[in-house]
Amino acid sequence: MIIAANFKTNMTRASTSEYLNTLSKCEEIKSQRVIVIPPSSALQDAPAGVEIAVQNAYTVRSGAFTGELGLEQLEEFNVNTVLIGHSERRHVLGESQEEIAKKYEYFKNEGFSIIYCLGEPEALRDEGEEALEAYMQTQLDGIDTTYEKLIVAYEPVWAIGTGRVPTNEQIVETLSFLNTKTEAPLLYGGSVKAENSKEILHLDGCDGILVGGASLKVEDFCTMIKNAK
Ligand code: PGA
Repeated sequence: MIIAANFKTNMTRASTSEYLNTLSKCEEIKSQRVIVIPPSSALQDAPAGVEIAVQNAYTVRSGAFTGELGLEQLEEFNVNTVLIGHSERRHVLGESQEEIAKKYEYFKNEGFSIIYCLGEPEALRDEGEEALEAYMQTQLDGIDTTYEKLIVAYEPVWAIGTGRVPTNEQIVETLSFLNTKTEAPLLYGGSVKAENSKEILHLDGCDGILVGGASLKVEDFCTMIKNAK
């Protein structure tokens, strides 16, 4: 199973370091693929059994791109996993599908593992499965779903940070739709917590979870890793 923690704009370099130290004592990290995605200011070496990824990066080795990180900066921290297409980048920071696909292609060509996020806004969920699938198809535009280092994360926009989670049936149905599009492992993300993680992790077609808010407490994240068993 893949258990990923997305810190977003939380945690510092010091608190991330403390977090990783505690996480290294969580025995179960040995039996799962554990990915921690800190803010870029907290990139650092990870303990054995933990992979560090970035929340975003730019399609360049180095150059004049104020505010962005390129390959040169990622290499310094041995980062070769990147999150692409997260809802907050799409809907808050305005990244278009075209830009996302360009980023995807660039990091694919560089051999990165890519956690590719997609998911629908609430209005679409209300329109039913067919509308939702058509929408998600647009979020696969320009994305090579056969890439062997791809991980797909289904994250409904309305479930992120809201404490609301789709029904088990809805998650299974959507993952099974995604399974017709790719052989990549499929994660669910959106208000996953220690308490609901076991049930979600054991749903049909679910290969892991991408956790935001509830991953910030290392004890809870460790419980979620244990629940993957
Ligand atoms: P959440 O965020 O767990 O806080 O809902 C998930 C995500 O955005 O990846």
